[in-house]
Amino acid sequence: MTTKRIAEILRQGNPDDRLTIQGWVQTKRELKAFSFMEVNDGSCLANLQVVLDQEMADYDRVLKSLSTGASVEVEGVLVASPAKGQRVELKAETVVVYGEADENYPLQKKRHSFEFLRTIAHWRSRTNTLGAVFRVRNACAAAVHEFFQQRGFLWMHTPIITGNDCEGAGELLAVTSLDLKNVPHTKEQTVDYSQDFFGKPAYLTVSGQLEAEVMAMAFGNVYTFGPTFRAENSNTSRHLAEFWMIEPEMAFCDLEGNMDLAEQFLQFVFKSVLEKCPEDMEFFNQRIDNTVLATADNIINNQFERVTYTEAIALLEKAPDKFEFPVEWGLDLQSEHERYLAEKLFKKPVIVTDYPIEIKAFYMRVGDDGKTVRAMDVLAPNIGEIIGGSQREERLDILENRMRSHGINPEELWWYLDLRRFGTVPHAGFGLGFERLVQFMTGMGNIRDVIPFPRAPLSLDF
Ligand code: 4AD
Ligand code: MG
Repeated sequence: MTTKRIAEILRQGNPDDRLTIQGWVQTKRELKAFSFMEVNDGSCLANLQVVLDQEMADYDRVLKSLSTGASVEVEGVLVASPAKGQRVELKAETVVVYGEADENYPLQKKRHSFEFLRTIAHWRSRTNTLGAVFRVRNACAAAVHEFFQQRGFLWMHTPIITGNDCEGAGELLAVTSLDLKNVPHTKEQTVDYSQDFFGKPAYLTVSGQLEAEVMAMAFGNVYTFGPTFRAENSNTSRHLAEFWMIEPEMAFCDLEGNMDLAEQFLQFVFKSVLEKCPEDMEFFNQRIDNTVLATADNIINNQFERVTYTEAIALLEKAPDKFEFPVEWGLDLQSEHERYLAEKLFKKPVIVTDYPIEIKAFYMRVGDDGKTVRAMDVLAPNIGEIIGGSQREERLDILENRMRSHGINPEELWWYLDLRRFGTVPHAGFGLGFERLVQFMTGMGNIRDVIPFPRAPLSLDF
């Protein structure tokens, strides 16, 4: 007897099909001659209704052990369902209960807050909302690979342990095998890293970009999709200490090509997820944020707005809104500014380019004016920055100067500079925060609810 997934049964099961399902009991309703239970197996939002007839072998004993949370295998025959909202239900012939669950099972019927569910992260994926989130997350990840693979980009695995701080923001988490109770010191009273595992300071990577640039110089177009880490002490609904980032890197590409790719990429992923997870997306629209489907439609069918940072500042200066943070050429955009541009002014994603040189990373290509760099941030309604990228500085002398002015010793990144010494090419890329994308797509308010086991300051359970 083949085991069938409930998603498939609800889509294409027919009366008289004989089959087996495996899953967990959501609810049970006992009537006189027969009883009902709803079973979910994670394949879709909907449960399959199972009818248990009094005539069934062992009826009373089986019924007693079928409480919410119990794991079951049911063999039976599909019948047309008289109930509304479902085509078929399963008439049980045999029921095997693998594991019972008593009244202490934490997901009894009542609704729970997302805050509470975070404290039971090992159970929350069985709830409707988190179940839908993780199915969408999966579809989203598959779409990411599909997009790049279709276009001939090679997926490259860049290191998780690194000796460099790509973004230069100093938000690094250290990796060490030193005994922290007895740290060895040099004569100068600094930590003696020569005794550490790598013989020098090591960190969890904040970005795979520098290594992706190396690979792009061999394969033309590559992308990374892996975990990145930031010791950012911001306890916000948009930041994680561990998040997944997608970083395409393209040789022979400038900022315009980079913007085009970012736009096509987001459109592709939204379209694909809508196709693969229509019920889950409908659910988010009904239960989480009633703009979810309109947002998807907006992304898929509109061109993104493109403005320079200088234009953005002028627009913000003219804004009727009062901002908490100052608006002034040279200062970074705060999230209230980003949201004004994307949500209120343009009502769609905005790509802001050519930021002041002082506020961006060392690797970004210096613009012709010498005051800006060829950076791009994609700002999304409700989320703010979802993508950060740039054309890279491919000119050796300028790059070395930029490193020095950022306090980076060029010798430490000798291999990165080597790419500019031999066969250098204009190139560009960007980083998309995967959880911000899933958040944007589902309308979920807190980024901690779109990754199975969130890592944030003072939070490392599970
Ligand atoms: O703008 P960021 O810092 O850019 C880079 O890391 C570049 N090296 C990317 C590149 O050009 N290859 O980060 C990129 C994106 C942000 O736009 C945001 O979506 C996400 O990563 N991000 C975070 N997501 C969750 N939690 C955090 N703490 C994040 N920090 C950045
Ligand atoms: Mg950024």
